[in-house]
Amino acid sequence: MRTQVGIVGAGPAGLLLSHLLHLRGIDSVVLEIRSRKEIEGTIRAGVLEQGTVDLLIESGVGGRLQREGSVHHGIELRFGGRGHRIPLSELTGGRAITLYPQHEVIKDLVGARLEANGPIFFEVADVGLVDLTSSTPKIRFRKDGELKELACDFIAGCDGGQGVCRASIPEGVLTPFERVHPLGWLGILVQAPRSSEELIYALHDRGFALVSTRSPEIQRLYLQCDPNEDIDNWPDGRIWEELHARLATDEGWTLHEGAILDKVVVAMHSFVAEPMRYKRLFLAGDAAHIVPPTGAKGLNLAVADVRVLAGALADFYASGRTGPLDEYSEICLRRVWKAQRFSWWMTSMLHRFHEEDRFRYQMQIAELDYVTSSRAAATSLAENYVGLPIG
Ligand code: FAD
Ligand code: PHB
Repeated sequence: MRTQVGIVGAGPAGLLLSHLLHLRGIDSVVLEIRSRKEIEGTIRAGVLEQGTVDLLIESGVGGRLQREGSVHHGIELRFGGRGHRIPLSELTGGRAITLYPQHEVIKDLVGARLEANGPIFFEVADVGLVDLTSSTPKIRFRKDGELKELACDFIAGCDGGQGVCRASIPEGVLTPFERVHPLGWLGILVQAPRSSEELIYALHDRGFALVSTRSPEIQRLYLQCDPNEDIDNWPDGRIWEELHARLATDEGWTLHEGAILDKVVVAMHSFVAEPMRYKRLFLAGDAAHIVPPTGAKGLNLAVADVRVLAGALADFYASGRTGPLDEYSEICLRRVWKAQRFSWWMTSMLHRFHEEDRFRYQMQIAELDYVTSSRAAATSLAENYVGLPIG
């Protein structure tokens, strides 16, 4: 088998890259270890930046997103028993975020690729990259037990934080930057009406809590926990008790309870590998960088990477120019580091760290007080949250 761009991973990065390349007349093949049902059912991100939404609409896969997504013009920061609204749109010249679940983005992209007869191989196994130093790198994999080889002009490693692509790059080529945080999030999916029109990020003595949403009937809530927390220690009653305590206000607000449909613990991690390229292998999305979820940036960074990569590949195929491909890593990393900084800042401001470190906690409260009372500080949060300009 041969293709122009071999794409490993059918997450948002891999699928959107394949779609954008198709629009520019470039062939690709997507390889995915999981089943279609699994990738279309995994609950992950929910917040789409303005630029992500614009790109999905411009590229023709935003129809359902426009109909079913929920546009939010602000978020709430809650601390000391009071809520403070950050008016995102007012502070950013009308930009906003859209709540639309990642797995719905995946469904829209899979649908668009299959409709255009774009090959996606689901449930492949034993994926390996070979001949990475040649002008025709190859991907070997097993499909239905049969060994196959895909020869490519380029390979896009879009296989997430645990994939094989980054691990296939020889030792010493990449510089890793890493921070493991002493933090985890327990996330639940709840069948209940919305408790709030906008997202609520709360800091409380007992830790962080977040109120998000998926649809008018399904809500997404998170609370800070130990990164190694055993989910069995969290029966539903304990989760609700903790959420009620952390989100309590003096302002007459009600948290709507409902059946818990899903529970997960996510450990927090910051990671960047530089550069995002080795020869003809380009890394994109979580394969190259991971951010803690507090800034809601992971999916948006994956989209920003493949926008740049698709443009650079299109340039190469149209004119033979390699300049844009050579600049890919540098262009993406500028955005990645700014998103790392923002995610780290939001994480540091909003979580409870060492019980005994009262000084640090007071710094966090002072920071929240400042951000919610200074227009300049709130504008800085808002422009990062809705997404910095492309480029
Ligand atoms: P992935 O989505 O991880 O996709 C990689 C794909 O590659 C997967 O389908 C995987 O099965 C496949 N794969 C892996 N190994 C192989 C292999 N060897 N061969 C073939 N295929 C392989 N981000 C936001 O922007 N906003 C949010 O609100 C947000 N909230 C989050 C909440 C949670 C609880 C979590 C866990 C993450 C959140 N994120 C958020 C982050 C976001 O989900 C990720 O950053 C995003 O999924 C990255 O997309 P990706 O395509 O790079 O990688
Ligand atoms: C989510 O809805 O899953 C979500 C929202 C905001 C975040 C992280 C996750 O910062």
